[in-house]
Amino acid sequence: MLFAAILALASASAAAAAPALSARQTPVGPQCAGLGPGAFDIASNFTLAAWNATGSNANDTGVPLVLGQAGAVDGAEFKILSTWASFPYDDFPELSLEHGALSGTGPMGNVAAAGNVTAGIPPGFIVPGSSIETPFQIYCGVADTDPAHGGLPQLAVFGDTDSFSLCPASHAPLAQTNVVYKPSADNYGEYLFDECYPVKLHIVGLY
Ligand SMILES: *[C@@H]1O[C@H](CO)[C@@H](O)[C@H](O)[C@H]1NC(C)=O
Ligand SMILES: *[C@@H]1O[C@H](CO)[C@@H](O)[C@H](O)[C@H]1NC(C)=O
Ligand SMILES: *[C@@H]1O[C@H](CO)[C@@H](O)[C@H](O)[C@H]1NC(C)=O
Ligand SMILES: *[C@@H]1O[C@H](CO)[C@@H](O)[C@H](O)[C@H]1NC(C)=O
Repeated sequence: MLFAAILALASASAAAAAPALSARQTPVGPQCAGLGPGAFDIASNFTLAAWNATGSNANDTGVPLVLGQAGAVDGAEFKILSTWASFPYDDFPELSLEHGALSGTGPMGNVAAAGNVTAGIPPGFIVPGSSIETPFQIYCGVADTDPAHGGLPQLAVFGDTDSFSLCPASHAPLAQTNVVYKPSADNYGEYLFDECYPVKLHIVGLY
């Protein structure tokens, strides 16, 4: 009887140990909830590309994205994700995910930290990154299980890979084309809603 009790205890602790071990192997936070076993929230030195989710693409990667300008206030600059074709500068070429907090690093070690994301506006970054006291741990990467588009991992925000679009800011010749989360017609003239199209944000350059 004692033996049986020890055995029961042993198998109970073995069962308890198994999930703890797999949790250590894939230590993803709540920002990856619902994204399955291919989710990850730590990655360094990648870039992003926007892959046209409903139309045609020149290749399986998509168009390269950079941190484009989005204004400044005294002591801080704002950045958004712009197509490199519309904003041909790459001041923050190394992106990283740290437990779901997205940031970009420039050649001088300057950091752009991602802020919170709101429906209807472009996901933003602030420079210097140190001006964000508590990082927004809202992003997650997820391995692609659909080989139809290159097999690259995708970026999710709030566990959602399906709500990003590319939207031109205007018809002006030098207008930026930017990523918007859940674009809306009601956007205070910030972008041309009728010309938005849905994209997947591919994570490029890991491994
Ligand atoms: C990041 O990746 C780029 C391109 O692959 C490489 O040139 C650069 O040295 C890498 N930086 C670091 C810090 O590993
Ligand atoms: C992406 O697909 C949409 C159709 O959904 C199309 O209107 C748009 O021109 C395409 N964009 C590019 C850059 O090919
Ligand atoms: C994919 O196509 C885009 C748009 O033509 C181009 O900017 C990009 O460099 C291409 N990427 C690769 C990996 O060929
Ligand atoms: C971040 O934004 C989401 C909605 O987009 C909101 O629910 C959440 O409360 C915000 N978080 C903080 C810390 O402001």
